Amino acid sequence: MISIEWIPLNLKLAEEMHGLKRAEDFLDLIDPALYLQLQSALRKTLVGVNAESPVAELDCEFHEGSVWFSVWVAPNYRRKGIGLEAMQYLRRWAKQEGYTRLVGAVEPINTPSRRLMEKAGFTVSAKPDEDDGMLRADLDLTAQ
Ligand SMILES: CC(C)(COP(=O)(O)OP(=O)(O)OC[C@H]1O[C@@H](n2cnc3c(N)ncnc32)[C@H](O)[C@@H]1OP(=O)(O)O)[C@@H](O)C(=O)NCCC(=O)NCCS
Repeated sequence: MISIEWIPLNLKLAEEMHGLKRAEDFLDLIDPALYLQLQSALRKTLVGVNAESPVAELDCEFHEGSVWFSVWVAPNYRRKGIGLEAMQYLRRWAKQEGYTRLVGAVEPINTPSRRLMEKAGFTVSAKPDEDDGMLRADLDLTAQ
């Protein structure tokens, strides 16, 4: 198991994450400086760091009692339990902060993401949402 420390986004980490995502042609690219500016009381990005290198990202938006999130793990670090560790970390943190629900959006063709959510205990909708075409991964924290 790889040891990961989750730390808040800063400009250096944002630039390094941007480089990693660009190398993968990841679609969700935002200019690092702008990305940093977007951080607010309603949005927090954590970077998963291993041996001083960023290897994963956990992006959270807060909506009333819910945390909407997305998770990304660098390609060379996938399938080593980091995605699952990110979900466990988020679950503990959100419950401690008093949030009652975690919500993720999963592309219907994204089998790794869907399987990760199911393994982490989320309920994944069978049909895509009518608004955005994504499956919803839902976890009720009050039932934990
Ligand atoms: C989805 C993603 C975050 C998974 O991260 P990861 O660190 O590789 O996941 P883990 O190693 O913790 O895997 C946990 C479980 O998820 C499932 N899983 C992960 N990758 C999988 C794959 N390629 N195929 C099938 N199942 C997979 C498995 O059930 C796995 O458990 P197992 O290894 O014991 O079989 C990663 O593939 C990723 O960053 N993808 C690109 C970004 C993305 O799609 N994010 C999701 C949007 S919310």
